[in-house]
Amino acid sequence: MNAITLPSARAYSVVDHTYDVVVVGAGGSGLRATLGMGAAGLKTACISKVFPTRSHTVAAQGGIGAALGNMDEDDWRWHMYDTVKGSDWLGDQDAIEYMCREAIPAVYELEHFGVPFSRTEDGRIYQRPFGGHMKHFGKSPALRACAAADRTGHAILHTLYQQSLKHKVEFFVEYFALDLIMDDEGACRGVIAWCLEDGTIHRFRAQLVVLATGGYGRTYLSCTSAHICTGDGNAMILRAGLPTQDMEFVQFHPTGIYPAGCLITEGARGEGGYLTNSEGERFMERYAPTAKDLASRDVVSRAMTIEINEGRGCGPHKDYLLLHLEHLGADLLHERLPGISETAKIFAGVDVTKEPIPVLPTVHYNMGGIPTNYRTEVLNPTQDDPDRVAPGLMAVGEAACVSVHGANRLGTNSLVDLVVFGRAAAQRAAEILKPGAAQPPLPPKAGEQTLDRFDRTRHAHGSTRVAALRLEMQRTMQRHAAVFRKSESLKEGVAKLHKLWDGLDDIAVSDHSLIWNSDLVEALELQNLMANAITTMVSAEARHESRGAHAHDDYPERDDTNWLKHTLSWCNEKGEVKLGYRPVKLRTLTNEVSVIPPAKRVY
Ligand code: FUM
Repeated sequence: MNAITLPSARAYSVVDHTYDVVVVGAGGSGLRATLGMGAAGLKTACISKVFPTRSHTVAAQGGIGAALGNMDEDDWRWHMYDTVKGSDWLGDQDAIEYMCREAIPAVYELEHFGVPFSRTEDGRIYQRPFGGHMKHFGKSPALRACAAADRTGHAILHTLYQQSLKHKVEFFVEYFALDLIMDDEGACRGVIAWCLEDGTIHRFRAQLVVLATGGYGRTYLSCTSAHICTGDGNAMILRAGLPTQDMEFVQFHPTGIYPAGCLITEGARGEGGYLTNSEGERFMERYAPTAKDLASRDVVSRAMTIEINEGRGCGPHKDYLLLHLEHLGADLLHERLPGISETAKIFAGVDVTKEPIPVLPTVHYNMGGIPTNYRTEVLNPTQDDPDRVAPGLMAVGEAACVSVHGANRLGTNSLVDLVVFGRAAAQRAAEILKPGAAQPPLPPKAGEQTLDRFDRTRHAHGSTRVAALRLEMQRTMQRHAAVFRKSESLKEGVAKLHKLWDGLDDIAVSDHSLIWNSDLVEALELQNLMANAITTMVSAEARHESRGAHAHDDYPERDDTNWLKHTLSWCNEKGEVKLGYRPVKLRTLTNEVSVIPPAKRVY
């Protein structure tokens, strides 16, 4: 045990550990990486803020995309085409090729692990249509979403956790990861974390750290994300002096329940559900004549917002639309959509067999995050070398920006991203690491700066309540970085967030204990959320075009001449954001496919 004495004169004892690999986060990608590392004989620790099966993957509903062709013809090349088109050409095509091809073995592997998928009459994995997934390069809807009723994420997460227990991996449950430990050469050497149960501080030395910390939906007021989705890994990256990428691309899911925001799966429209406005019109036929209600999410969310803004919303305030499932019949709803039938009853008081559900676009997913290559190695790009790797560091899942989703993610491509790249991380680690290889000692004071921040936060005695500051940040994001954006409003959003950032120095944390201190957790999470919020707003303000989820009223067209590039954002401790750019990879991994050149995106 070591001790670190801080400028405050308070001393913290530190428990030191050594592993080959430390995975931070135990959702779908973290668990898939963890079990693969364990299976490869690497001594692996998995640190998680919550019990693994409470990670946000548990909430994924409609399916995992893979061109199995179980119920109709399909081809991973069509999946690749749809994903590139869905990304509005901002996705890196080498990574997209990798994901769509590897989706097939990754899903069969899940089946063999024991995921209880729904079945066809002849016993194969059941597949349903989903937005933006088509056959024959965009011609007609494909049946590609492999589903376990409408609880696919739940089924996958529990199975992966059970599989992880078979290997000799060690779980550190309810440990809050505070920061990466970096060396002077920019390599990652480990992680420092706080054990919520007994208040101890732990330093994990490792050959490799894998960030699998999820998204940052909670920067917004209304989102489908769990309260734990506070972008902790992204903030750790920024504090380590590394950039995040494409933060301006925030996905609004078309069907959050009004007003609570809980998710109603796109699988509901995949099963035949449809949207209407106050005039009873199936308005999606006007916006997307071919795909209609199954157009890509950004397209449907924009159409819904226009309907509401033009006065065709429903209800006394004309501020929601209706999702109809009642025509599907009780038997199908019970078999294929039991979870959302229950959610609609609880959160909207609606019996889906008899009446439509009030819905509204709600923040759902972050396309941006920690830049990586398709092998999941974190990038630390320079002007001369946009693909430079930060040694000792990987990122997977929603925390990462590989980038397979570009400017807009297709439904079901999140679960597949988790397992394909969780698996890729383990495969790459097995290639580059030697189990038990000697590691140089950490400097005795490693993590001191982090502990100083932790200690100052723990004893913060300003006059601003953490909850009040968080609420203001969420309102600012909801208002200024919404489905449609404008220069003036984005500029205002940037100014407001800078002011709120300054408020971080004035927060009050009333509970100073180290054990189960939720006040302190929320204060640390707010610091993380703010770093995500400000990089999002600044990146959005700078992008003068409309692409995917970034719909800019002052620049309504996509501009490939000037903006076919990824945004990089660095953020310092004062909240100052610096931007840079790196090229999109318009190249494939193998010659089995050719590059899909940018084209107009119609559904
Ligand atoms: O609508 C849904 O079931 C969500 C799926 C996804 O985001 O991939």
